[in-house]
Amino acid sequence: MSTSLAWDERYTGGDFQFGEAPNVFLMEQAHRLRRGMRALAVGDGEGRNGVWLAEQGLDATSVDWSAVGLDKARALAARRGVPLATEVADLTRWTWPEARFDLIAWIFVHLPPEDRAIAAAGALRALAPGGLLVMECFTPAQEGRRSGGPKDPALLWSRALVERHFAGLEVLELLEGAVRLDEGPRHQGLAEVVRAVLRRA
Ligand SMILES: C[S@@+](CC[C@H](N)C(=O)[O-])C[C@H]1O[C@@H](n2cnc3c(N)ncnc32)[C@H](O)[C@@H]1O
Repeated sequence: MSTSLAWDERYTGGDFQFGEAPNVFLMEQAHRLRRGMRALAVGDGEGRNGVWLAEQGLDATSVDWSAVGLDKARALAARRGVPLATEVADLTRWTWPEARFDLIAWIFVHLPPEDRAIAAAGALRALAPGGLLVMECFTPAQEGRRSGGPKDPALLWSRALVERHFAGLEVLELLEGAVRLDEGPRHQGLAEVVRAVLRRA
C-alpha cells in the first residue's frame, strides 16, 4: 500500500526520483500558459512540475502528502529563484479550494479507486472557469514494464477513467499509447500512458 511515509522514504536523499526537469507532456503545453495563471501541481513530490510552472511566471502551488518531497520542492524553487507555495496534504482529505486554479497538473498520481474518485472530484471543483487539467498517468498496458508506475493494477488510469472522472470537461487532447520516458531513475524507457488536456467551460 502506498503511504506518505513510504514516499518520504523514497524521497530521502539528494537524488530527484523523477528528475528535476518537468514532465515532457506538461512542458509541451507551454503555449497554453499565461503569466499570472494560478496553477496547482497535485501529488507534485519533489516539485519538478510546480517549479517549472513557477518559472513560466505562474502563481504555482504544489500539494503532496510527503513532507520530505515538498522540502526538496522548496529547495529546488529556491535554487531556481522562483516562488513556490507548498502544502502537505492527503489529496483525499484536503479541503480543495473552489474554482481557484487556471491550471491543474496531475502527473503520475495513481490512487486506489475510491481515493481516485475523491481526488478527481476535488480537482474538478478546484478548476476555475476556463481552467485546464493536464494529466499524464500510466495505463493497464504498463503492467509488466519496468519503466515506472504502481504495481497494483487497480491504481492505473485509462482513457475511459479520465472520461468518467472528468465528465463535463471539454476534451482538448486525450490519447492512450506508448511513449519513451526519460525522467530520473524511476521513469526510464518505453511506457504506456494516458495523456489528457481538458478544459472547464
Ligand atoms: C509517482 S509520484 C509523481 C510525483 C510528481 N507528480 C512527478 O511527476 O514528479 C506520485 C506522487 O503522488 C503522491 N501521492 C500519492 N498518494 C497521495 C495522496 N493520497 N495524497 C497526496 N499525495 C499523494 C506521492 O507522495 C508522490 O509524490
